[in-house]
Amino acid sequence: IANGLGMTPPMGWNSWNHFHCDINEKMIKATADGLVSSGLAKLGYVYVNIDDCWAEKTRDCKGNLRPKKSTFPSGIKAVADYVHSKGLKLGIYSDAGYYTCSKTQPGSLGYEEQDAQTFASWDIDYLKYDNCFNDGSRPTIRYPVMTRALMKTGRPIYISLCEWGDLHPAEWGFNVGNSWRTTNDISDTWESMISKADENEVYAHLARPGGWNDPDMLEVGNGGMTENEYVVHFSLWAISKSPLLLGFDVANATATRAVAHIVGNEEVIRINQDPLGVQAKKTRMMGSREIWAGPISGYRFVVMLLNRADAGDDDTVTAYWDDVGIPAKSLVEVRDVWEHKTLGRAVAGNISATMPPRSCKLYILKPVG
Ligand code: GLA
Repeated sequence: IANGLGMTPPMGWNSWNHFHCDINEKMIKATADGLVSSGLAKLGYVYVNIDDCWAEKTRDCKGNLRPKKSTFPSGIKAVADYVHSKGLKLGIYSDAGYYTCSKTQPGSLGYEEQDAQTFASWDIDYLKYDNCFNDGSRPTIRYPVMTRALMKTGRPIYISLCEWGDLHPAEWGFNVGNSWRTTNDISDTWESMISKADENEVYAHLARPGGWNDPDMLEVGNGGMTENEYVVHFSLWAISKSPLLLGFDVANATATRAVAHIVGNEEVIRINQDPLGVQAKKTRMMGSREIWAGPISGYRFVVMLLNRADAGDDDTVTAYWDDVGIPAKSLVEVRDVWEHKTLGRAVAGNISATMPPRSCKLYILKPVG
């Protein structure tokens, strides 16, 4: 949508993956503090997004949404003021139906103008808009009503469509939001993560600055995957130009330190935030060996060598320049962005690596002759 936002994929944090409904104003503020003190904010993680379960079950007598007294006693505006004072932005959550997905608070269906005005009056910067308990009408009818209402407030609010991909939002989302979910909910397992990446890849050609495919939020740091699996997870999200919304407990300094080398890898973040905004695609599949590749700015390319076998011996994966879109005879400078190393000399023809099951290599290739 032409609201000037999401020119690169949004980066930040969201409460759902780690905390579900167990949220309150204190931990939201502590998360903002954690983003700043860990240095993650400086790397671009600026959205602090409150997901479901922040409101009372009923509206007030004027039909307004009300922050839950027991958990957000100071109100959402106070939280926004705090988050803004840290140089960050605040996101909130609603639903294009009668209730949100947790069923603990009202949805915005029929109250779009009023709720958009409420969010703007609280200085909200981001709305995630879900699809539960709707009236059965098409999302292409219900979602634009909220989009228009938000635009009418005059406040720039990033619009995240959470329609789960059922009615192919990649095909209509660009006129309605800044990103759209292409999948149902992720969970903290390899099987879930890799299947979301696959489902999301199908729509790669429809992603562009201002409108991104969203395979759901990051699980890195939540403990369900191995180190290598989380590196694959973060690499896939980065090259897929997916929103990078952290889903672990950022207020916990120990937890943050444990994954800082993954989610804080500046070279990988820069791939995600590249101004060209082209989502990488699978360019070759050979059983459990895959090549994912795409262009980035400066006549450079990103290529991922993936061994997605579940078990077994190490395996060698080879990407030919042809798989990447580089003329076959080119000499190429190769940068390994997880090792933080540039190979000593320019490489001809292909790049190859041997790696264990469920792991990857991620390179930036720059043709030099
Ligand atoms: C849906 C969404 C999730 C989360 C929950 C909250 O399942 O897809 O991302 O927002 O609702 O209830």
